[in-house]
Amino acid sequence: MSRTYRIAPSILSADFARLGEEVTSVIAAGADWIHFDVMDNHYVPNLTFGPMVCQALKPHAKTAAGAPVPIDVHLMIEPVDALAAAFADAGADSISFHPDATAHVHRSIQAIRSKGVRAGLVFNPAAPLDVLDWVIEDLDLILVMSVNPGFGGQGFIDSALRKIEALRRRIDASGKDIRLQVDGGIKQDNIRRVADAGADTFVAGSAIFGQSDYRAVIDAMRRQLA
Ligand code: DX5
Ligand code: ZN
Repeated sequence: MSRTYRIAPSILSADFARLGEEVTSVIAAGADWIHFDVMDNHYVPNLTFGPMVCQALKPHAKTAAGAPVPIDVHLMIEPVDALAAAFADAGADSISFHPDATAHVHRSIQAIRSKGVRAGLVFNPAAPLDVLDWVIEDLDLILVMSVNPGFGGQGFIDSALRKIEALRRRIDASGKDIRLQVDGGIKQDNIRRVADAGADTFVAGSAIFGQSDYRAVIDAMRRQLA
């Protein structure tokens, strides 16, 4: 099957002292989306950046020719709704959250979509998928965590492959245009396996920002996907 693959570098592993330049460089290197990992030292142990940083980076999220590059916000925060609204106002193009981080999953999805932003649900390595029975038709994105959320540079958890296979079947059966994204431990040497399981959108932080030549890594990932 032919699928449009998207590579979404996570700026969690970028140089925070030069974030604007890092976004510009990774887009010049071929990034399709910019993945923006929001952590609150509550839902996850780490603490990163908020809507003001998203707003500051928004003008950098475009190609040299001026085409916009989506900012893909991954909320690892609890609760969800107030900050999701703030990220929508700050220029987020998609906002994904963990269903166990909000009291009312359906309401949180609708609140994001009412802002004209694409909505996603994120599943931790041990999280069940049951909630999808009731909301899959309202989603634009489903994100499978292939590490426990909170830190870059961790190893890929293999059970994510089974989860991706199951989700691919559900998405295809739904007939909806829903991106199936994977986040954590994605490298040149496993991206093909993850795509074969059914993913179409790949977050990669340390694999890209840990090398000096971002284009070389992104090109190598695309060769694996070709
Ligand atoms: C982890 C974050 C990831 C992280 C991935 O909580 O959601 O987006 O940046 O980093 P790597 O690609 O280094 O595993
Ligand atoms: Zn993420």
